[in-house]
Amino acid sequence: MSIRLDVVFLVFLVGVVQRSVGDSLNPTEDLPYNVTVVADGPTLLGATTTFVATLDTGTDFQDTTYKYTWSEVFGYLIPRVKSTYSEENCTFSRPYTRPEDVRDHIMSVKVYRKSILWVMVAQGSVTFQVTAHIPAHVILSQNETVCNGPVCDVATNQSAQLTVSIHDPSSYLQNTISLFDWDFGDENQNPKTTSMSLSHVYSEIGCYNVSVNITAVQPSGSVKTGNAIVTLLLKDAIHNLTINGLEHVTVGDKKTINITCSGSPPISFCWSIFQANMSSSLPVMRSCIQTYLQEECQTEIDYSFNTSKEYILRVRATNDVSFQALTAEIRPREPPVLTSDGIAGLVVGICFGLTLTCISIGIISHQIHKERMRHVEVADFNFEASSRYDSIREHARRLNDAKKKPTEKTPLLNKNPTLDVRWVKGSETVEL
Ligand SMILES: *[C@@H]1O[C@H](CO)[C@@H](O)[C@H](O)[C@H]1NC(C)=O
Ligand SMILES: *[C@@H]1O[C@H](CO)[C@@H](O)[C@H](O)[C@H]1NC(C)=O
Ligand SMILES: *[C@@H]1O[C@H](CO)[C@@H](O)[C@H](O)[C@H]1NC(C)=O
Ligand SMILES: *[C@@H]1O[C@H](CO)[C@@H](O)[C@H](O)[C@H]1NC(C)=O
Ligand SMILES: *[C@@H]1O[C@H](CO)[C@@H](O)[C@H](O)[C@H]1NC(C)=O
Ligand SMILES: *[C@@H]1O[C@H](CO)[C@@H](O)[C@H](O)[C@H]1NC(C)=O
Ligand SMILES: *[C@@H]1O[C@H](CO)[C@@H](O)[C@H](O)[C@H]1NC(C)=O
Ligand SMILES: *[C@@H]1O[C@H](CO)[C@@H](O)[C@H](O)[C@H]1NC(C)=O
Ligand SMILES: *[C@@H]1O[C@H](CO)[C@@H](O)[C@H](O)[C@H]1NC(C)=O
Ligand SMILES: *[C@@H]1O[C@H](CO)[C@@H](O)[C@H](O)[C@H]1NC(C)=O
Repeated sequence: MSIRLDVVFLVFLVGVVQRSVGDSLNPTEDLPYNVTVVADGPTLLGATTTFVATLDTGTDFQDTTYKYTWSEVFGYLIPRVKSTYSEENCTFSRPYTRPEDVRDHIMSVKVYRKSILWVMVAQGSVTFQVTAHIPAHVILSQNETVCNGPVCDVATNQSAQLTVSIHDPSSYLQNTISLFDWDFGDENQNPKTTSMSLSHVYSEIGCYNVSVNITAVQPSGSVKTGNAIVTLLLKDAIHNLTINGLEHVTVGDKKTINITCSGSPPISFCWSIFQANMSSSLPVMRSCIQTYLQEECQTEIDYSFNTSKEYILRVRATNDVSFQALTAEIRPREPPVLTSDGIAGLVVGICFGLTLTCISIGIISHQIHKERMRHVEVADFNFEASSRYDSIREHARRLNDAKKKPTEKTPLLNKNPTLDVRWVKGSETVEL
């Protein structure tokens, strides 16, 4: 008995000396390596906590085994010490089962490398908690948006899924029967479920505290309880996003496009106009507004579409719980040809045509008239008549010649004798 006590004391003494030698040789600030320690807390009383120490030796790689000494200093005269041997990573687990374990804990680790003695090369610690209640929180998901709390934005009139997430890395509660007692914070009846997940639809905007009481009964009959709370901020999703004023878009005319939407503020609201099939994807015009307090977003775009090519108007409205986008294609029409100028042109054209026609008709009728006149003349002056005239003229000339001859013979007569020869045909007189 006394021998055994001696042995125990000797082992203890060796351990203390070795540790103090190692520690004194390497003051904490001069340790060559760093070690980071993580714990998987918070830990439900009765469950096991797992610690992982990761040694960072920098560039000084050593193919060796280190000694990791785990100790909890708080509240114990002699720390509970446990040594494990490992390479760069070391995992250590221990359960917390005593009622006085329910508190904050600090787990420290010292890392030793073997030379002649064990020499400390790194030290680190981690803080964690052992709790009497099941550690849990509520996860909210709506339309693939997941919120881990503690405050989540939620859209009204859309199903919101609430899921209890119990932190139990050591699967301590694996074989328990659990009951979930919900309080949605609105007028609805509070359901009790055995499933960890359920859906709820809120129809009014506002702030709601969702609370769930968890009861887990273990096969042994012992009961663990817990509670989780999430605060939900219910907001109206963007709705009724509309574009007005896209009818009758004409090239060159200034067009006022009216965009409106509704939803819970603040609403951020952007639009842009692109020219389709352009090599550059930059919009020809764009703008953003943000509305605070008022529940309506509204803006007017004044734009003059200057080509008949295709334009694309993109509108996007966003608030905390939703997103809505709208795209409109705009194909401005060329202004119609029949404007007042066009009509005037047409009138001028028609008049010109009519005038041409009138002139043509005039010329043709004149020509026809002339032709007819000629025929009349030809009919009147037939060749027999004209030859008869000629013979009459010939006869008259001869008569005149006969009158001239005596004038030459009789120079006394100084004045030119005239002779009027008239041929009278009916009432017409032909002068010769
Ligand atoms: C240990 O951490 C300190 C400070 O974070 C850093 O300066 C040092 O380089 C680290 N040492 C190694 C070996 O990573
Ligand atoms: C140690 O853990 C870290 C991170 O946990 C990992 O990247 C690394 O590969 C591990 N090293 C060894 C030797 O297992
Ligand atoms: C949860 O438990 C607390 C305390 O026992 C109680 O006041 C509360 O009403 C419970 N909530 C539900 C939803 O049952
Ligand atoms: C929700 O809980 C918080 C804190 O627990 C409290 O300040 C707030 O008034 C509660 N809201 C409602 C709507 O009960
Ligand atoms: C949600 O539903 C309620 C009740 O049906 C209705 O009064 C309310 O206008 C709806 N809200 C939205 C944003 O659609
Ligand atoms: C949204 O549009 C619907 C139908 O299109 C209409 O019944 C409702 O009144 C509109 N709501 C608002 C807020 O304009
Ligand atoms: C745009 O729409 C809003 C809401 O419908 C209306 O109040 C406003 O007068 C409209 N503006 C134009 C230019 O049409
Ligand atoms: C059309 O308008 C845009 C912007 O106002 C301008 O950059 C572009 O040169 C104009 N195009 C024509 C053909 O006038
Ligand atoms: C733009 O290109 C698409 C295909 O690339 C074509 O279908 C469309 O008609 C084109 N629009 C114009 C205005 O050229
Ligand atoms: C959720 O999805 C539905 C259908 O896909 C859609 O109508 C609704 O606007 C979405 N809600 C949110 C908040 O994005």
